[in-house]
Amino acid sequence: MNVLAPVPSSLEAELRAHVGRHVEKTFDWDAFPSNRGFPDLERAQMRYIGAGGSPKVGDTSTLKPEHFTVSLIYKHVGKYAACHAHEIEESFLIIDGVLTVGWEKDGEVVEVKLGPKDMILNARDIGHGFRNDGIEPVLMSISVDVGKPLPPRYLYHPKNTAPALARSFGAEPGKTIPFSVTGDHPLQQHMARYVIRHSEQPTLWDAAGFTRKVYVGPGGIESDTCRKEMLGIPAGAGVKPYSRDVEDAFLVLEGSLTVGWEDEAGNGVEVELGPRDLVMNPAGRRHWFRNNSAGPVTVWQVIGTAEPETVRFEAA
Ligand SMILES: [Fe+2]
Repeated sequence: MNVLAPVPSSLEAELRAHVGRHVEKTFDWDAFPSNRGFPDLERAQMRYIGAGGSPKVGDTSTLKPEHFTVSLIYKHVGKYAACHAHEIEESFLIIDGVLTVGWEKDGEVVEVKLGPKDMILNARDIGHGFRNDGIEPVLMSISVDVGKPLPPRYLYHPKNTAPALARSFGAEPGKTIPFSVTGDHPLQQHMARYVIRHSEQPTLWDAAGFTRKVYVGPGGIESDTCRKEMLGIPAGAGVKPYSRDVEDAFLVLEGSLTVGWEDEAGNGVEVELGPRDLVMNPAGRRHWFRNNSAGPVTVWQVIGTAEPETVRFEAA
């Protein structure tokens, strides 16, 4: 038998090279060297775009970041992440489970519980940590709003903080305050501007026939780095090719999304993505999306600019 395998076009090869398949990637249990020797801090990271907060910037199975990183973090019940701060904003989008996130200032901590599709944008230089107080593992998507973040600055790490104080993100007993959007504590008011509840965020219908909930950007949390939205694409809906002057990325949360790319000559290629698969569409690349399936698709979209939307989507 003499069968020649079809040779992928360069466009097809390029598109494939910008896809991160969940099942082809592996979780790294040693992504954060500062956690070594502290079983309570155990967490696993799956890197899609860039290294996120990990120093493993040389991972060749990871897409090269431009304006943001995307990774998944897995956290067992009972484990926590020590309170730390970054020079840049960082979002936690919960996929499964319930995550407790704490913000610390001057020894006081406000804690919020986030469920599936809820998000917090950790503000610049704010001390933040997280803990799984729930009954099931937490899976979340973290995006850092810069391609190559600096290492985190630890504020209450168990290597130099009593274990109970590190687990409470730096709050002595009685210094933990519950999250409240109507609370009068300045830290409550600060955090309230950075939390998005999926069920409370308006669902906007785009004229092209899909829905969006704005998490970060005009209508959501104000930011000067990136926009983040959750898209809902009904069965059969899709848009015509469009491009941006920055990159965008789609992380499929539910359902099956077809993504297409077009070259300068008008040739197109498509790829189908399932849950937890990601595609990164580079700046200037004409691309489109469509739901070929019978069920709805939910997609987490990150766009590498804070500027308001310039694309006018047209139904395909
Ligand atoms: Fe962080």
